Amino acid sequence: MVKKAVLTGACLYTAGALAQGTCGDILVPRNPAPVVANGWQAQLVAGGLTKPRSIQFDEAGALLVVESGKGISRHRFTDNGGTCLHANHSHMLVELQGLNHGLALSNEGDILYASTAESVLAWSYDARGGAVTSQPRTLVANMSNNDLVTRTLLISEKVQGKLIVSRGSAEANRDRAAVLSSGLSQIRVFDITNRSDSESPYNFNTDGDVLGWGLRNSVGVAEHPRTGGIYAVENSVDGVTRNGQDIRENNPGEELNFFGYLDETVKVNASANNNYGYPHCFAVWDPSEIPDGDGLGVGKQFAVEENSSLTDETCESDYVAPRLTFPAHYAPIDLKFSTGGETGYITFRGSFDRSSPVGYKVASIAFNAATGEPVASADSKGALRDIITNVDNTQCPDKCFRPVGLAIDSKGRIWFSSDSTGEIYVLQRTGENSEGKFVLPEGGQNGDGSGNNNGNGDSAASTVFGWETRVLGWTALVGLGVWLMAV
Ligand SMILES: *[C@@H]1O[C@H](CO)[C@@H](O)[C@H](O)[C@H]1NC(C)=O
Ligand SMILES: *[C@@H]1O[C@H](CO)[C@@H](O)[C@H](O)[C@H]1NC(C)=O
Ligand SMILES: *[C@@H]1O[C@H](CO)[C@@H](O)[C@H](O)[C@H]1NC(C)=O
Ligand SMILES: *[C@@H]1O[C@H](CO)[C@@H](O)[C@H](O)[C@H]1NC(C)=O
Ligand SMILES: *[C@@H]1O[C@H](CO)[C@@H](O)[C@H](O)[C@H]1NC(C)=O
Repeated sequence: MVKKAVLTGACLYTAGALAQGTCGDILVPRNPAPVVANGWQAQLVAGGLTKPRSIQFDEAGALLVVESGKGISRHRFTDNGGTCLHANHSHMLVELQGLNHGLALSNEGDILYASTAESVLAWSYDARGGAVTSQPRTLVANMSNNDLVTRTLLISEKVQGKLIVSRGSAEANRDRAAVLSSGLSQIRVFDITNRSDSESPYNFNTDGDVLGWGLRNSVGVAEHPRTGGIYAVENSVDGVTRNGQDIRENNPGEELNFFGYLDETVKVNASANNNYGYPHCFAVWDPSEIPDGDGLGVGKQFAVEENSSLTDETCESDYVAPRLTFPAHYAPIDLKFSTGGETGYITFRGSFDRSSPVGYKVASIAFNAATGEPVASADSKGALRDIITNVDNTQCPDKCFRPVGLAIDSKGRIWFSSDSTGEIYVLQRTGENSEGKFVLPEGGQNGDGSGNNNGNGDSAASTVFGWETRVLGWTALVGLGVWLMAV
């Protein structure tokens, strides 16, 4: 059954000049091939990148990639349909070591935005020519802090001229994060309409509108395409105790928070002053492991150390609760909506502070397209549907891909980066009843974890001629990148 599906798919690819039933040079992941959910097909389409983080298509259909610590690269792909894509041209658009995560394009696609830990920068951008056409200008500044340094950027499609910037803060700054004017642990919105080059940058801490605060590190931010509702996925705290007892394994949960609409002046929750709880209140994932947790359920907020003024009750009455809660330590990084608004896709980069690793996957949640609300209720433990996972999470992070940035192309395919492995993958829906498939070179095993045909291309001494050829092709293609990653 599976074999037949593969050949059928492959035949589609051969309409052009490609050889016999294959997709040309199929790249092999560095680690055991991922496991793909039924109804989806996935393939590796680029490797050898330097910590690829946010990704975004430009108006010419090329993929822009923030390579953390290096700059922004641009990649054009020959598209043979399905997941059969080959990079045919890649170059560095911007070389700037401080760039580490954020990336956005203006509504017209002619201004490129990217972030360092300190600032948001903007360049004039020519998508056809694939080049920036100006020096960078600084739009927003004063964002440096000593931990959690991604500054996610989002340009609103619904309300023109609005730039959303998300800035986190870790435990070293926790007391300051409770003060609004610190600018820590906040999402702010800046009006960038008609900003001239001569105007001085916005100061993140004192300018802009506060969309939400009390957000430890909301890395993924997205606008629902139909309603314009703004959502973000929150990386909650590690190493938590409750009234002195260690509860870090399964609490607190990661969060999906709702922030209302940019074109409404009303706060999403005026009584809570749009504060989402950090550093005082956190979301419950596993109520059974929270001591003195009578009345706490999934998604409720709880206080770490209760006292006379801070209790689970004040957490509920004074702060905005998440719209959905996810397992602790999953580390959600990006959120993107399908064009119709019926699905939200989330990358989970995976845990580092848990006895057995979790996360490390791309999953989806169902939305009501018309209302822009998640279908699952706020106390649900089952909102996520896995799309692509690692074979064996006990081998993570070392032998796993770690999903980071998401982008959806004009054909509805979902692309994601894996920073730890320097890779870009593409996912395509193949229909509810089709078996999940990860495309490997002929003879490759799908996700058996054996390392055969699944390694990084330099281990298996295969006697299969075709395989060796492909290994050579792969090595030549990304040799430079692999070498760069090794130094
Ligand atoms: C590379 O891919 C682009 C599409 O992104 C296509 O327009 C172009 O013709 C391709 N170039 C080559 C040399 O195949
Ligand atoms: C921005 O500039 C354009 C062109 O000069 C003008 O038509 C528009 O009204 C300006 N928008 C705002 C909000 O000032
Ligand atoms: C950054 O903040 C400092 C003090 O907090 C202020 O003096 C400076 O003007 C700010 N810079 C910008 C670009 O807003
Ligand atoms: C309760 O704990 C919070 C958070 O640590 C603290 O800010 C507050 O001062 C405490 N209140 C009392 C009455 O101890
Ligand atoms: C607003 O926040 C308060 C305090 O957390 C809560 O009781 C109320 O249900 C919230 N309302 C909405 C609409 O979220």
